[in-house]
Amino acid sequence: MIILAIETSCDETSVAIVESKERLPAGGQGLKNPSFEILSNIVLSQIKIHKKWGGVVPMVAKREHQKNLIPILGKALRKSNLLISKSEFLISNQIPNSKLKKIQKILEREPELLEQFLKFIPAIRPPKIDAIAVTVGPGLEPALWVGINFAKALALIWNKSIVAVNHMEGHVVASLLGTTSYKVKSKKSKVVEFPALALLVSGGHTELVLIKKWGDYEIIGQTRDDAAGEAFDKTARMLELPYPGGPQIAKQAENFRKYPLTFRMGGWTRREMEKEAFNIKLPRPMIDSKDYDFSFSGLKTAVLYMLRDMKERHINIGDFTPTICNEIQQAIIDVLISKTIKAAKEFSAKSIILGGGVAANQELRAQMKKAVARELTKTTALYLPSAKLTTDNAAMIGAAGYLHAVNGDFAKPEKLKAQGNLTL
Ligand code: KG4
Ligand code: ZN
Repeated sequence: MIILAIETSCDETSVAIVESKERLPAGGQGLKNPSFEILSNIVLSQIKIHKKWGGVVPMVAKREHQKNLIPILGKALRKSNLLISKSEFLISNQIPNSKLKKIQKILEREPELLEQFLKFIPAIRPPKIDAIAVTVGPGLEPALWVGINFAKALALIWNKSIVAVNHMEGHVVASLLGTTSYKVKSKKSKVVEFPALALLVSGGHTELVLIKKWGDYEIIGQTRDDAAGEAFDKTARMLELPYPGGPQIAKQAENFRKYPLTFRMGGWTRREMEKEAFNIKLPRPMIDSKDYDFSFSGLKTAVLYMLRDMKERHINIGDFTPTICNEIQQAIIDVLISKTIKAAKEFSAKSIILGGGVAANQELRAQMKKAVARELTKTTALYLPSAKLTTDNAAMIGAAGYLHAVNGDFAKPEKLKAQGNLTL
């Protein structure tokens, strides 16, 4: 099965084509061991555009998706060898009138996309795909709508079925994609064994999800306020680091780890330095709570007070930025790992899956590997998608779409709508 997938939930415009490699027994009922080949996964980040505002602006995201979807679709098809232009004398730039009217209606709020669509699509042959998967939520609704309407227009013109995908399921299933690097201590097996526990950490979500089988998800813990990625982004902003804050804090923290002495010195006497460094200590919110919930807004407030206090004492915060970043990162990592390990023990998880943008954090990945090896049974597998697949991309949406398509779980196009707060 070949799936064309579209992701526009936030500030990445992405189109991917993934092929399922699973051999289905006669009569369907696959999903024993889903595996995929990514034929193409084109991701265009809008970070540079949103940076100016210090965060994602929904209407700007919508405009950019609208502008970029057709060129990205073209690239994705070309890279998958599925782009076949119609020879010139065959191009009838006419779409049958009945369909044309419907497409104009579907894309009436995306005029730029409509214009490009009507130029590009009639000039190529319908690609050999089996279904179209699209993210319907959670995310920014104006942004989600562009992807949904695009999927509807393509499905109509190519006579394909649509699968509605939950973005968070995409982050879980990223662990199954071809380039996944995984660590299985004793067995060299890529089959995810259940129960599995997924730690999903992104800009909008922090969730621990218990998975009994594919499609059966139970959120056993989540953040009560800010998400882990949000904690990175907001504290980075306080330190005057650009958006998105996660990679910036990680870079500063790495500098601290590489050159602790130089940075700790920063024009200070050893004594003053030790005293200050000692004070750079942040809370690990809810680390000892009995549940699996998280709370990161307290951490944000603690950083705010710490910086205010330093300013009042005329301390040059720049001297301590790497130290502070290291402490912020470590506070977040400590809580994430501690709760994950505790839940893995309680639910006897056989697999642990990491997903979401924050899972690109190298220190989180390294420390999670160590914690799993140290604290859990030898057979517990840890699935770490490559950093490129943990942040938003359409390949993960295609893989999640397959899990539904294989069961004939398709959406009625007229029923599709953006669901900003969709949960697993
Ligand atoms: O999953 P994602 O790409 O988009 C959402 O669905 O939200 O996650 C984006 C989040 C941002 O908050 C960003 O700061 C964070 O992931 N992030 C990181 C790193 N790379 C991205 N956080 C920590 N360390 C990183 N290396
Ligand atoms: Zn995401």
